[in-house]
Amino acid sequence: MRKPGKIAPAKGKLGVLTPGVGAVSTTFMAGVELVRKGAALPIGSLTQMGTIRLGKRTEGRAPKIRDFVSLAGLNDLVFGGWDIFPDTAHEAAKKAGVLDASHLSKVQPFLQGVKPMKAAFDQNYVKNLHGTHVKQAKNKFDLAEQLRDDIREFKKKSKVDRTVMVWCASTEIFLKPEKIHDTLASFERAMKENHESIAPSMLYAYAAIQEGVPFANGAPNLTAELPALVELAKEKNVPICGKDFKTGQTLMKTILSPGFKARMIGVKGWFSTNILGNRDGEVLDDPGSFKTKEESKLGALEYIFQPKLYPELYGDLYHKVRINYYPPRGDNKEGWDNIDIFGWLGYPMQIKVDFLCRDSILAAPIVLDLVLFLDLAQRAGMRGIQEWLSFYFKSPMCAPELYPEHDLFIQLMKLKNTLRWMMGEDLITHLGAEYYD
Ligand SMILES: NC(=O)c1ccc[n+]([C@@H]2O[C@H](COP(=O)([O-])OP(=O)(O)OC[C@H]3O[C@@H](n4cnc5c(N)ncnc54)[C@H](O)[C@@H]3O)[C@@H](O)[C@H]2O)c1
Repeated sequence: MRKPGKIAPAKGKLGVLTPGVGAVSTTFMAGVELVRKGAALPIGSLTQMGTIRLGKRTEGRAPKIRDFVSLAGLNDLVFGGWDIFPDTAHEAAKKAGVLDASHLSKVQPFLQGVKPMKAAFDQNYVKNLHGTHVKQAKNKFDLAEQLRDDIREFKKKSKVDRTVMVWCASTEIFLKPEKIHDTLASFERAMKENHESIAPSMLYAYAAIQEGVPFANGAPNLTAELPALVELAKEKNVPICGKDFKTGQTLMKTILSPGFKARMIGVKGWFSTNILGNRDGEVLDDPGSFKTKEESKLGALEYIFQPKLYPELYGDLYHKVRINYYPPRGDNKEGWDNIDIFGWLGYPMQIKVDFLCRDSILAAPIVLDLVLFLDLAQRAGMRGIQEWLSFYFKSPMCAPELYPEHDLFIQLMKLKNTLRWMMGEDLITHLGAEYYD
């Protein structure tokens, strides 16, 4: 195993670029500013609130994560982004309707200062959106070049030392990896030929990696999960991760299902339905975008339950996920789950979960943690896929020969052990035999 490198200090400003200045990204930006002003707490953020145990349980060492590893401070973050609508982050946040007026008024001038750059967009990939604030170019390669110019211009203007990009834009239609995604040469050729399997999100990922900017994908789109881009990330020393922020219903799934499996409780059916009324819901009303989300949401249970290892318990599991666009609810989604379980001697039982959640409130701290951890990873010389950040994703990216780890608790252990490993601390296995010697 490669040894962790020396971690470069988090000196200077850290730029944060989000393709998509919508509900999630404005809730994230506004939240960081409210925390900086001392007007709110960064609840839900592991980097800001979390601690990490070091050494033996008898040592009593449990510093805050942000005091243990060198993370950029919130005061050093500078924001920018792209959107297909010209609304400032303030207008976008008002339209998204996540934060109330008392919060928004406190950060109004700050949010008004974030004006999105013109987007690389193509309606063929997000059917239900009609944007006007979009770039013109002779081909997709040229579009990517324009994005690279934007990144360089942003770095120069905002005087940042380092930059991270997090995809917070709409979910694109379902695409599968193809031959053209295999190598950088075929990928670039396909961009020049306007190949239909090159989606706009891939152009942002390509531009970020080429500019040495770590990239996280908050949506379920294929985006950077391509051999060509993973290779490029390694070559350019860029950490990347994805896909699809693990928030509401899937978060609950990956909390509950490891518990059922731990106790060898069988599951016969898991029916999940959602109603939501934000722009994300409108986009997901299109079957192409829904298919991408559906694939992402379905994966977790299959991997956690391992039906091949436990055919009597999970071999017949029927898993169904529905998302319904229902405007009256706005960003306040309701996710219902009906879980048909069975216990000793096969006796059936049921569990109902009704999660009245706030999508962007759950997603915003994830964006913050990803920004800070990706920047840390880059300063530590880590590159390519960062599987230790799978804690934050519904469809975690991992090496092609591996299956993704979905269990939230294993993911958290992996994340914290990675931090210990980076800092040269002992890994914690929870064996604990030494206490009884
Ligand atoms: N909120 C959550 O809990 C959550 C969880 C997992 C994933 N996500 C994903 O995060 C993304 C953002 O969610 P949201 O609620 O903020 O959605 P949103 O619709 O409010 O914001 C997305 C923004 O992206 C813009 N956009 C679309 N295509 C673009 C492009 N090519 N370039 C630049 N901008 C573009 C849209 O105009 C919109 O303003 C979605 O893909 C969503 O599926 C959200």
